[in-house]
Amino acid sequence: MDNRQYVRILQMVVDALKAVVVVLLMLFAIVIYMGYDYLESKRPNNTAIAAADAALEITNGIHVQSGLVEGEGLKLVIQNCTPCHSAKLITQNRMTETGWKSTIQWMQETQNLWDLGDNESSIINYLANNYAPQKKGRRAQLENIEWYEME
Ligand code: HEC
Repeated sequence: MDNRQYVRILQMVVDALKAVVVVLLMLFAIVIYMGYDYLESKRPNNTAIAAADAALEITNGIHVQSGLVEGEGLKLVIQNCTPCHSAKLITQNRMTETGWKSTIQWMQETQNLWDLGDNESSIINYLANNYAPQKKGRRAQLENIEWYEME
C-alpha cells in the first residue's frame, strides 16, 4: 500500500466516526427532549401544589386546616380522626388518657371507627398530651362585692 491508500482509508474511518457522532448527538437530543416532556407531565400543577401547601400549613403551633395543635402524632390523628367528622369534636373536648381511650372505644363499637392497630397508642398520647383536662386552680379572690344586709 502506498501513502495515498493510507490517507484514503484514514479519511473513510474519520467520516464513519463523524457519522456515528452525529447519530449519537441526535439520539441524545431525542432522549433529553422526551425525558423533559415526561417530567413535565409528572409535575403537579399549581393548584395541587397550593392545596398540598395549605394542608401542611402550621401557624403559631396550630395546624391551620384542622385547628389541631402541632405535636407528635398530629399526622396520625389527622389521618384517623378527621375522615368522619370535623377536628372540632377533638379541639372542643378535653379528656384524660382513659377518657380518650373510651371515646375511641365507643366510636369503634357504635360508629364504625376502625381498629387503630399500632397507631392507637401514639394517637391516644397525642390526645392526652394536647387535649388534657385543664387544671382547675383555686378560684380567684372575689372582688368588689356588694354585700347586702340580712333581714
Ligand atoms: C368512622 C367514623 C369516625 C372516625 C374515623 C372517628 N370518629 Fe369520632 N365520632 C364519630 C361519630 C359518628 C361521632 C358522633 C358525632 C355526633 O355526635 O355528631 C363521633 C364523635 C366524636 C367525639 C365526640 C364524642 C362525644 O362524647 O360527644 C369525639 C371527641 C371524637 N369523635 C373523637 C374522635 C377521635 C379522637 C378520632 C380518631 C381516633 C375519631 N373521632 C375518629 C365517628 C368517627
